[in-house]
Amino acid sequence: MNINGQNWRSIWLQDGGNSISVIDQTKLPHHFKILELSSCSEVVDAINSMVVRGAPLIGVVGAYGLMLALLESPTDKNMESAIEKLISTRPTAVNLRWAIERVVRRVKPLKLEERVKAARNEADLIAEEDVSMCEAIGKNGLTIFQKLLDKRPQNKRQNPLNVLTHCNAGWLATVDWGTALSPIYKAHRSGMQIHVWVDETRPRNQGATLTAFELAKEGVPHTLIVDNAGGYLMQKGLVDVVIVGADRITYTGDVCNKIGTYLKALAAHDNNIPFYVAVPSSTIDWKLLDWRDIKIEERNVEEVTEISGLISDDTDQPHLAKVNLTLPGIKAFNPAFDVTPSDLVTALITERGVLGSNQEDLSRVFDLP
Ligand code: MRU
Repeated sequence: MNINGQNWRSIWLQDGGNSISVIDQTKLPHHFKILELSSCSEVVDAINSMVVRGAPLIGVVGAYGLMLALLESPTDKNMESAIEKLISTRPTAVNLRWAIERVVRRVKPLKLEERVKAARNEADLIAEEDVSMCEAIGKNGLTIFQKLLDKRPQNKRQNPLNVLTHCNAGWLATVDWGTALSPIYKAHRSGMQIHVWVDETRPRNQGATLTAFELAKEGVPHTLIVDNAGGYLMQKGLVDVVIVGADRITYTGDVCNKIGTYLKALAAHDNNIPFYVAVPSSTIDWKLLDWRDIKIEERNVEEVTEISGLISDDTDQPHLAKVNLTLPGIKAFNPAFDVTPSDLVTALITERGVLGSNQEDLSRVFDLP
């Protein structure tokens, strides 16, 4: 997508194919810094520290991470140890496990000397498929936006469609386009009047720092709100539709996404506002029927007790810094995701179309892997 007139993806393979480049998302929106990762342990660190994040992107980065591990040593032993390290970085998003298992299925039957090339090809394929799935989600989501506008009285059709989103499910969370933001980009590029309410998404503020950055660079009108403002805006008739991404959905259609998503869904339900979840099929966990079996990542409590941003102090340059919100020693708890039950989801927007968030529709549209 667009940054200052230039087209970017969130990840790309370096010439020679022996390293990858990513955008350091911990520095956005203040600094645009590219990092080169040339070993599996650098990839593990980048995922752990949230340099890269977002379910589809960590899947793609994980696949390349396994390729880099095989480059160091293509043995089964090294592969098993790399898989373990990569998968344990972020336990909730299923895309990571999905992408790594795909690479393993591809390389395991091969001779050692054939493995790196095959792993690279499979990771490339996963990245390209992610782009096409996200673009298709954009097209399918655009039809929903158009229907919402068509339902309006004639004299209100020129008013912007007000969309509320949570966290960052944009191109930075995927390889390109994004999931929840993809229909928004398609709508904006098609000339539709659209305005986005951007939840800040405490504690890491992916909405304020990443979604707002992406939308600004694409020129999409948007307004930042605190997480708790969503319900009020819905009661005031200022939200036409809510659209979010997902880190994992069960085979029965329950949606695990960034903490706070469930509260948005409840408020949308109470106010009769459609609540859509944009997901590529790589985010569907075909093995999981009960959402209670999802391992919810619990992150460092300092994300709750501190806040980070750009600070101008006595030093010569403004710089990124963390400040304490609380007194030292306070007890805090930081679950990173929650689950929205399927009955609160109006529909899923997938690469294969818009479907009910339930086992019947999912198994009708997709082949069980
Ligand atoms: O903790 P993060 O930043 O990796 O969480 C990201 C989200 O929750 C996104 O909404 C989700 O991965 C969908 S991304 C297309």
